[in-house]
Amino acid sequence: MAADNATYALSGKSFTAVAINTAAKAGEWIKSKLGDFNKLDLKYSPHDLVTEVDKGSESLIRRLVHTHFPHHSFLGEEGVEPGPAASARALAQMSGAEYLWIVDPVDGTTNFVHGFPFFSVSVALAYRGEVIVGVVYDPCRDELFVAEKGKGAYLKGKPMRVSGETRLLDSLVATGFPADRDYALPINMDGVRAIAPKVRNVRIAGSAALHMAYVAAGRLSGFWEIGLNAWDMAAGTLLIEEAGGRITDTAGRPYELAVRNVIATNGGIHDELQRELAQANATGF
Ligand code: IPD
Ligand code: CA
Ligand code: CA
Repeated sequence: MAADNATYALSGKSFTAVAINTAAKAGEWIKSKLGDFNKLDLKYSPHDLVTEVDKGSESLIRRLVHTHFPHHSFLGEEGVEPGPAASARALAQMSGAEYLWIVDPVDGTTNFVHGFPFFSVSVALAYRGEVIVGVVYDPCRDELFVAEKGKGAYLKGKPMRVSGETRLLDSLVATGFPADRDYALPINMDGVRAIAPKVRNVRIAGSAALHMAYVAAGRLSGFWEIGLNAWDMAAGTLLIEEAGGRITDTAGRPYELAVRNVIATNGGIHDELQRELAQANATGF
């Protein structure tokens, strides 16, 4: 269902202002903890890391959201059991929610742990299953990417537009290496093998949310990954849509919150990227 203006604010509080405020506050705090965290744990696999900073960031965001909107539902990565099956279950349990905040408190934890300055905070608000606000904040560069459904996507107050490439040959694309090394990683490796020779180059920098924000900003022509969760993508999908790009699953079907295998592009290279992944058997379907 399309959201009208009344859905963007309750009792005068702007959803977007709260999303911006929570992402910025969490991001500043995360940055202050770079190189200074105490506890590193493994979650679902030896490649799936979590620190007390991920958990602290999520509770900060949750508290702020619930201060303003106590009756809204909240889906945050650290509140869900690790692994793809548990993530899908958690999202399904929230499917009836009217307003649902979808939050990745640190997207790019491996980078954070190693001091590699490419990670982000991702905060989205969905109204009856449709993302209506998306904010991705990169605290290392102090870049805040913001989108509101139907109102555009902005970076530092300026409207964002996707890039203009229409051929893979002219494109810079990104992907990720998922923590699920048994199922998702080998498929993504097949994708990289197929796509790398066809594009100008591939970047794999370690934050799906930030990669998607870069597609919206025209810095990347496209992004794909197998085995993502709703919190990695929700904010990024609205940024791209509002910046004039296109999001589908890797089979070319329209994006919805339950999608795990995603293609997110400037639109111009979408069908070609989808075709190449399908030909390489690298869609995850
Ligand atoms: C991960 C990052 C990474 C992607 C993984 C995600 P996390 O999120 O977005 O770029 O390749 O699939 O799980 O664990 O750092 O929040
Ligand atoms: Ca993530
Ligand atoms: Ca995370």
